[in-house]
Amino acid sequence: MSDYILQLEDISKFFGPVIALGGVTLRLRRGEVHCLLGDNGAGKSTLIKILAGVHMPDEGQYLLEGKPVRFASPRQALDAGIGTVYQDLALVPLMSVARNFFMGREPIKQLLGFIPVMDHALAAATAGDKLRNMGIRIRDANQMVGTMSGGEKQCLAIARAIHFGAKVLILDEPTAALGVKQSANVLKLIATARARGISVIFITHNVNHAYPIADSFTLLNRGKSLGTFPKNEISKDEVLDMMAGGEEMHKLIADLEGVTI
Ligand SMILES: Nc1ncnc2c1ncn2[C@@H]1O[C@H](COP(=O)(O)OP(=O)(O)OP(=O)(O)O)[C@@H](O)[C@H]1O
Ligand SMILES: [Mg+2]
Repeated sequence: MSDYILQLEDISKFFGPVIALGGVTLRLRRGEVHCLLGDNGAGKSTLIKILAGVHMPDEGQYLLEGKPVRFASPRQALDAGIGTVYQDLALVPLMSVARNFFMGREPIKQLLGFIPVMDHALAAATAGDKLRNMGIRIRDANQMVGTMSGGEKQCLAIARAIHFGAKVLILDEPTAALGVKQSANVLKLIATARARGISVIFITHNVNHAYPIADSFTLLNRGKSLGTFPKNEISKDEVLDMMAGGEEMHKLIADLEGVTI
């Protein structure tokens, strides 16, 4: 059995003349939280869109549990156990928590003995139970998603992916718009996913969020990987330094120090 649940080997993706990814390798170990860090335009979203079946790579190989795969659509990736939570979440604000939790997979009952209809009571009770089991307290599963806070919505989207059997969970900046307490709740839920054996790719700009939870880090810079580092081989300051562009940033600051205004 392969050590890695998922591998991108030497992947390139071009958009016309733009090299969004130029020969990037990313290997995700089973049951780890792997942080993908990088500045704006580094290629993070392009990389997860390849993983999620939105884009096909132009070069390189995508392996799932050691076997080459080609996903022609997000549905195919989802069916293979790759659950992706995008920044815009794909939740429906005017539908209830329970409807959003099931989204097309609602429990059905027979009306008058033969007309299939959604079982609202069972859906609300089941969604409420499942969310509570993952440490998420929802006042009322019949509540509209539009009335929930940003953090609650993130938790709901992640919980849904876990419940429906994701083996790999990909989270694109789940804490970007959240305050301290809400971010902590999302980080706790990531730990819950890992405890259930799910492998997680966590994309963020925020090293303070990444460092406590991550088992390893891959840093992207302008479509290239700066490498993958297990947590015991890299300090938080070193991650910050690499994120800031390392030497380039030091040079920029040094140049600025010489400027008289
Ligand atoms: N559909 C597209 N068409 C053309 N260029 C694209 C497309 N998607 C991404 N790019 C380009 O590829 C590069 C990488 O973009 P990407 O969105 O992957 O970066 P990112 O690391 O997610 O950045 P951010 O932190 O700002 O979200 C950028 O130069 C971007 O303009
Ligand atoms: Mg992005």
